Amino acid sequence: MIKKCLFPAAGYGTRFLPATKAMPKEMLPIVNKPLIQYGVEEAMEAGMTNIGMVTGRGKRALEDHFDVSYELEHQISGTSKESYLADIRNIIDNCSFSYTRQTEMKGLGHAILTGENLIGREPFGVILADDLCVGENDSVLMQMANIYAKYRCSIVAIEEVPHEEVYKYGVIAGSELEDGVYVVSDMVEKPSPEDAPSNLAIIGRYILTPDLFDVIRDTPPGRNGEIQITDALQTQATKNMVLAYRFKGQRFDCGSVEGFVKATNYFYERWKEKEGA
Ligand code: G1P
Repeated sequence: MIKKCLFPAAGYGTRFLPATKAMPKEMLPIVNKPLIQYGVEEAMEAGMTNIGMVTGRGKRALEDHFDVSYELEHQISGTSKESYLADIRNIIDNCSFSYTRQTEMKGLGHAILTGENLIGREPFGVILADDLCVGENDSVLMQMANIYAKYRCSIVAIEEVPHEEVYKYGVIAGSELEDGVYVVSDMVEKPSPEDAPSNLAIIGRYILTPDLFDVIRDTPPGRNGEIQITDALQTQATKNMVLAYRFKGQRFDCGSVEGFVKATNYFYERWKEKEGA
C-alpha cells in the first residue's frame, strides 16, 4: 500500500573518519554490501519500490551504486563473478530512484522536509541506513507497514535500551494499545537519563503521514539547534494518534564503531553459510 521510502543520507559520518572523508558513510560495507543497500532491500521487501534519497555534497557514489555499470558488467559477463551483482541488479530492475540534495545540515526533520518533493501527499516510509535491522520474520519496515494498514497514522519503531543510553535517542512515553504497539503521549529528543520518560528509544524506521511536512515547517530548532523529527512527531501526537512499535528482530547501530563491528560479525556468519565457506 505504501509505495515510497525516503532515505535521509546527507550526514557526514564523522565517527568513521578518515574512511568517510571522500566516501559517503552509507557506502561503508558490512561484509560485501554497502549499508545503504541493506536499507533499500528492506524497503523493497516491504513493497516500497519508489526510493527517494536526500543526499548532499560528496554523495554521488550513492547514485552510481544504484545504476548499471556497463564496463564492469561487460567485463564479468559470462563468468562466475556475475552472481555477485545479482542482488543489486534485482534492486535496479525493481525500484526507481530519485534524489534531492540538502544543502545545509539542519537536522533530521529538515532532511525529511527536503524530501517532500520526492514524496508528495502520500504516506511514506523512512529508513536511516545507519540502523541496520534484521527482522524476525518480516523485515522491520514490513512489520510497520502491516500496522499502518490497520491504524493509518504515523508510526515510529522503538526498542528498549539501557536507561543510561537514552541520551543517544528520541525517547517515547505511551500506553500499550496491543502487544508491542503504543499510543505515544510524549516524545523527547535525546533526553538526559533523569528527564527521559521511559527507556523506549526510537530507532531509524518510521512510517509518516504527509501532513507531517506542514508540522515540520512550523517546528522550531530543538536539540543541538536542529529541526528534529521527534519534535514534529510530538506535535502530531497531540493532534492525531502517533504510534510506537516495538519491532521483532535485531538492530545494529552502524553509526558507532562497536555496532558496525557487531553487524560485520553477524553478517559474516550469514555470508559463510551462504557461500558454504
Ligand atoms: C536520530 C533521531 C533520534 C533517533 C535516532 C535513531 O538521531 O533524531 O530520535 O532515536 O536517529 O537512530 P541521530 O542518531 O541521527 O542523532
